Amino acid sequence: MKAQEIMQKARNLGKCIPAFNVPHLPMVRPIAGAIADENSTAMIQIARVEWEKFQARSLEHIAEEYEKYKVSGHTLLHLDHIPVVDEDYRRVDYEKLLERALKAGYESVMIDGSRLPLEENIRVTAEAAAMAHEAGVPCEAELGAVMGHEKEKMPPYEEIFSRKMGFTKLEEAKRFVLESRCDWLSVAVGNIHGQIAEAVRNQKKPEARLDVGHIGAIYQALGIPLVLHGGSGIRHSCVLEAVRAGITKINVGTEIRQTYEFALKESGNDISYAQEQVYRKVRAYISGYLYNTGLADDLK
Ligand code: 13P
Repeated sequence: MKAQEIMQKARNLGKCIPAFNVPHLPMVRPIAGAIADENSTAMIQIARVEWEKFQARSLEHIAEEYEKYKVSGHTLLHLDHIPVVDEDYRRVDYEKLLERALKAGYESVMIDGSRLPLEENIRVTAEAAAMAHEAGVPCEAELGAVMGHEKEKMPPYEEIFSRKMGFTKLEEAKRFVLESRCDWLSVAVGNIHGQIAEAVRNQKKPEARLDVGHIGAIYQALGIPLVLHGGSGIRHSCVLEAVRAGITKINVGTEIRQTYEFALKESGNDISYAQEQVYRKVRAYISGYLYNTGLADDLK
């Protein structure tokens, strides 16, 4: 389980693995290049919503594109959010999607049962983790509600944070990890996803903060790598503190998606120009957060 070893090593060193989403197929190339040129170790990932509502086409298309541009020692391929109930509240055939991803060579996968009641989330996650482990790859899961993908209007950010809306509960998390046997846990601790509904997907994300004390308490209780979704636009100091407290993977989508889409629009659909802007953005992001993990040799 290479991805598992890399995450464990990063955790032991107090470092974090960034994971970049690819809602458009041509984004794979500049992201992979930027990761390698920054001497970082990072994931390239796709969520179901990115082929359903954007132009990633399919998980197999991304895997093929990844094969062309992956860089040994630097990049890993991860399957992000496979929801059991999606953002439009429809049931998803998640087992089929996981099977396809494992066949296509994804090195780690995520099951997202966070819209289900606790018992059902545990049951589904346990099934998904068993499938992943049989194929020799780790499984990420989610507990709590990281809002933003749903179609209804989100409450104002300050209300989410001050009322701790959707936050992962410590006691539930202990039981969840023990019974589901997931390897990494995505937590809700003040983070929100960039919105994806048509009418608002081009808006700037509000700056999120994080309850770092809560992250620390969850990490101390669980001892497994924690994942921070909604990585775009979080206050810089919060991210650095969160990594010290137990966050080992941070997902970044909106910031680079908007870079690509705005560049395409501004250039009259010049894909190379948009790729160049994504390359620069990802390099700046990695260097800005010191995400050079020094783990490249471990991945070769
Ligand atoms: P953002 O789009 O808010 O960066 O979140 C990405 C993410 O968490 C994908 O799983």
